Amino acid sequence: MAKVDIAEPKGKLGVLIPGIGAVSTTFIAGVEAVRKGLAEPVGSLTQMGTIRLGKRTDNRSPMIKDFVSLAGLEDMVFGGWDIFEDDCYEAAVKAGVLERPLLDGIEKELRAVKPMPAVFDNRYVKKLHGEHVKKGKNWRDLADQLIEDIRRFRETHGLERVVMIWCASTEIYIEPSDVHKTLAAFEKGLEANDERIAPSMIYAYAALKAGVPFANGAPNLTVDIPAIVELSQETGVPIAGKDFKTGQTLMKTILAPGFKSRMIGVSGWFSTNILGNRDGEVLDDPESFKTKEASKLSVLEHILQPHLYPGLYGDLYHKVRINYYPPRGDNKEGWDNIDIFGWLGYPMQIKIDFLCRDSILAAPIVLDLALFLDMAARAGMSGIQEWLSFYFKSPIHARGIYAEHDLFIQLMKLKNTLRHLKGEDLITHLGLEYYD
Ligand SMILES: NC(=O)c1ccc[n+]([C@@H]2O[C@H](COP(=O)([O-])OP(=O)(O)OC[C@H]3O[C@@H](n4cnc5c(N)ncnc54)[C@H](O)[C@@H]3O)[C@@H](O)[C@H]2O)c1
Repeated sequence: MAKVDIAEPKGKLGVLIPGIGAVSTTFIAGVEAVRKGLAEPVGSLTQMGTIRLGKRTDNRSPMIKDFVSLAGLEDMVFGGWDIFEDDCYEAAVKAGVLERPLLDGIEKELRAVKPMPAVFDNRYVKKLHGEHVKKGKNWRDLADQLIEDIRRFRETHGLERVVMIWCASTEIYIEPSDVHKTLAAFEKGLEANDERIAPSMIYAYAALKAGVPFANGAPNLTVDIPAIVELSQETGVPIAGKDFKTGQTLMKTILAPGFKSRMIGVSGWFSTNILGNRDGEVLDDPESFKTKEASKLSVLEHILQPHLYPGLYGDLYHKVRINYYPPRGDNKEGWDNIDIFGWLGYPMQIKIDFLCRDSILAAPIVLDLALFLDMAARAGMSGIQEWLSFYFKSPIHARGIYAEHDLFIQLMKLKNTLRHLKGEDLITHLGLEYYD
């Protein structure tokens, strides 16, 4: 198989993050702690995962990070933007995810990450009010200011490469429309302060203009519009999204493929969550919740394919609730009641009570995306990176195909993409050769 040239990861990799909140501080603090040997990068495929190459009898299973030469954790430099001035240490303390003794051991490193003033507009995140915000004559001017921030960040830290991962709040629900259709229409919209362009899109635009790969961790439209896809192709930069797959949806995409593979019917799936962090507060606003709900609901429909299995999934009632409940902080509780049916239609129930830590599940995703997007850029890949669907609740994909939500197919796609890049045989799991 043809091998793709992947430039070696020389020098430092900058990771720029809009949103210095629970997820991003847990990610940054985690990387600092791992660098100091204080903890293990549990949950990170790039740091702990291996990849089988060749036949099962070949015994070749290198670490993924060695196989595709990913940037090392020691070469990562962090920066970001927020509407609050708290540095990464203060923000991490307020987020309350990681314990003080751990944070205090890396205080100096965390204090060095001070957010730059954000591009923000309260119309898109109604529950938040912050003063650490850029002023500009229009959206275009704000995009230019972000491009200048990126340039300065590169220069100050002597960076070879930069990636951007959106870890800021969920914005209100926006329908794709004319202004999102072409790059020309989008750029006109930037000049005209078009209200269908949200701040997250301005960050994405600035990143791509500056040659910086972009991943969207929230369910916002952001890079999931033709104008931004066009820009990513034009500038030759990879993009990925959207909405980190953690918690309840992760469980759904683990369980649902199992039910379907055994032809077990599902008549109802009721999911409810209580959480008390800032994300929960933002999602308490019905317009932000609508964006999240659309992202969470699409998963089951796509995995279970009711149009192919009407008798098993045609009448599935799927409901998702999120309730803001401050006492829980980031340690949310997600309940699922799943009504399933088996042989001759006999009903059964499954109850899941997941006492989960959202940011603990999200942080390794941020790390993997930063490293894989950087590698994709070094391999000359541009546009939508569907092989990174593994990390997202609503994977973005080419027009005319449906999204792949099944976690196990997503993992196979990811690993086969790596094998393909390195000129190794793809693994089909056929295995007939062992019985010749
Ligand atoms: N934690 C998870 O498991 C998980 C899973 C999927 C998606 N997400 C998404 O990731 C995002 C971050 O989650 P979190 O728990 O860290 O939330 P958070 O509220 O703790 O942090 C978000 C931060 O973004 C800042 N912000 C808002 N708008 C901004 C803007 N325009 N520019 C710069 N900063 C801005 C806020 O001030 C806040 O500090 C949310 O959109 C959330 O929905 C989280």
